[in-house]
Amino acid sequence: MIVARHLVQRYSRSTERDPNAASAADARALTVLDGIDLEVEQGEVVVILGPSGSGKTTLLGLLAGLDRPTEGEVELAGVALSSLDEDARARLRAERIGFVFQSFHLLPTLTALENVLVPLELLPPERAPAPSEARARARDLLERVGLGDRLHHYPAQLSGGEQQRVGIARAFANDPVLLFADEPTGNLDRETGDEIASLLFALNEQRGTTLVIVTHDLALARRAHRVVHLAGGHIERIERVVDPDGARACAASAPGDPPSGEAPA
Ligand SMILES: Nc1ncnc2c1ncn2[C@@H]1O[C@H](COP(=O)(O)OP(=O)(O)OP(=O)(O)O)[C@@H](O)[C@H]1O
Ligand SMILES: [Mg+2]
Repeated sequence: MIVARHLVQRYSRSTERDPNAASAADARALTVLDGIDLEVEQGEVVVILGPSGSGKTTLLGLLAGLDRPTEGEVELAGVALSSLDEDARARLRAERIGFVFQSFHLLPTLTALENVLVPLELLPPERAPAPSEARARARDLLERVGLGDRLHHYPAQLSGGEQQRVGIARAFANDPVLLFADEPTGNLDRETGDEIASLLFALNEQRGTTLVIVTHDLALARRAHRVVHLAGGHIERIERVVDPDGARACAASAPGDPPSGEAPA
């Protein structure tokens, strides 16, 4: 599903004007990721762990095609992202990928409901639901993350954890085959975080969605199939979790399923 080969990401160390900028650029570059090789299978749940600043968000952005690597290649479902222009990558993301941003990235001029509707409006016409259906789906997703009574709030009127949950509902909206989540439970209390984690795992179990999750939450990591430990721009080790299903104690129904819990058609 995802193949990353020798990903390198470098940033310039400072944005200050440097008299020797061109020649000094390489020497001054900050190497955030330094040769990452990773394959993620379809239907797999992979958690990325690592200290702050170790490059987790950077890696997620490269894997999802939000950013381009300095070196290396990412293939999603057999398609090399470098072969696609910006529009084609945006289409791929709109149709197949969900992304939960660490810093939410909600549109401030749209309500919670309207934010969740955005990915549905970006779908190609043959997959886009009718407007009334789209609104019903967006409302259902917000109810599932516990925000049924905040539909018409703007982001500035929501708490951090509520904004995070809007971001999660939005990431589910296009029924992605691949979902990236950057610390999806980072701003939530234990109980709400566990509920959100269960929604994520239900998406994996019931719809086969591939999940790549960055987290500091070890309880969440124990429910993954594999845990990638990132440090100093390298993959330090990859751990296979022995009994991820055993750790998935609390079941939930997948987002988008009928509330009765019937199998999806
Ligand atoms: N656009 C950029 N320009 C320059 N440096 C950057 C840029 N983006 C990230 N960095 C640097 O890359 C490093 C890794 O950042 P990243 O956001 O990937 O870390 P992280 O592992 O997600 O950390 P956290 O756990 O705090 O979210 C940081 O030291 C950061 O300062
Ligand atoms: Mg981060």
